Amino acid sequence: MKATEFGESFIWGAAISAAQTESAAMADGKGVSIWDEFCLAQKGLFSSKFRIKNKHHLNYSSDFYVHFKTDIDLLKSMGFKHFRFSIAWSRILPDGETINPQGIAFYQSVIQYCIDVEIEPWVTLYHWDLPAVLEKKGGWTNRAILDWFALYATICVTNFTKVKQWMVLNEPSVFVGAGYFFGIHAPGKTGFNNFFKAMHHANLCIGHIFRLIKSINPELKVGSTFSFTHVESIDDQNRNVNAAFLADLLINRLFFEPIIGLGYPKEEIKILKQIEKYILPEDALNLKTPLDFIGIQTYTREVFKWNPLNPVLRIKQVPAKLRTTELTAMDWEIYPPSIYHVLKKIDAYQTGIPLIITENGMALNDKLVEGEIKDDKRIAYFKAHLEQVKKAINEGVDLKGYFAWSLIDNFEWAEGYHPRFGLVHIDFASKQRTLKQSGHWFKLFLR
Ligand code: BGC
Repeated sequence: MKATEFGESFIWGAAISAAQTESAAMADGKGVSIWDEFCLAQKGLFSSKFRIKNKHHLNYSSDFYVHFKTDIDLLKSMGFKHFRFSIAWSRILPDGETINPQGIAFYQSVIQYCIDVEIEPWVTLYHWDLPAVLEKKGGWTNRAILDWFALYATICVTNFTKVKQWMVLNEPSVFVGAGYFFGIHAPGKTGFNNFFKAMHHANLCIGHIFRLIKSINPELKVGSTFSFTHVESIDDQNRNVNAAFLADLLINRLFFEPIIGLGYPKEEIKILKQIEKYILPEDALNLKTPLDFIGIQTYTREVFKWNPLNPVLRIKQVPAKLRTTELTAMDWEIYPPSIYHVLKKIDAYQTGIPLIITENGMALNDKLVEGEIKDDKRIAYFKAHLEQVKKAINEGVDLKGYFAWSLIDNFEWAEGYHPRFGLVHIDFASKQRTLKQSGHWFKLFLR
């Protein structure tokens, strides 16, 4: 297979995010983010364990802050023409209100360098690193987040005028689910109340910021990215099929259907009725957003079954480890048809909005041996997934592009530095960059 089979105008890119790659957590006036704090947090009042595996801290990641030109050159050397990255809100507004000129200057340099080397910048406004001062006021559980975000987005869009492609949020279901329900991501909050408030505000934020950016410049393209996972039942027994239905609703539909005008699927799970107390009369209209593109981020398949011991939902995930040996370093199942099913499912909504895969890739525990990283498994993953993508396109799915995750090895949130997703290997001690075999594969594929 060759990239040319996807058509001349197909968008090929690679992606990163600020908190995962920049390091420089306190450099040049940057404020503290919820992830800076979470990296120092212990699991509980009486626990000696840290929230992040091996006590890893994002300040020692890939130093994109210093090496961004090298990284963009590497992206270009593979043949990609598009680069997706995010802005650290706490670099722009360290205290949530006051502009930090050095933060503006940094992203201006990154964007200008992209333009100089003819790489199109695709910028995500929020990839999970809220300024800590705003979390102290409730973060995503406070409806005022809509105003805080509007200020931040206005500053970005008016200062970074060379950016034509914007994304509002990165995977709201993940930062809300992991950060405000399970407490395994920053800010470590738990429970249904936090979850519902944060979810509703995140969903509202997409439309609010979309309209704001369009009012500043209607020419700009504004999308947002969503995590989608192909969900299956362990077998065809009714109660397991129902469990998978609920899991799909919570993982995929809850954070997507309101945006395309279908509202919350409240009738289908009783507990969702609780959202009503956070919804204002005008919200239904504001949730619906005619995005310019839908960013799809998908990695694996998840399998569910009925579980009478789960008090509220009665569902249980069947870990991939118990089902297969085809695993990534995240213990996620390698199941290429999942990307096809996801594309077909979103296509079936018939939104008329073009789709772009804004993340797909796999983690390995790559080792540098004699100057090389032989990541054959990753090459096989990309090939197999791209074949499935092609199959969906052939069947009429309006997919405009594909971004590999990730350009460089980085800080994998609560997992720390061990799972490596990059096409480029980073030696975290010396910060030396080495193109992996998968990077060489992309070079041939995109030629
Ligand atoms: C996130 C990335 C993350 C990747 C792999 C996505 O959910 O957007 O930040 O590194 O998945 O876990």
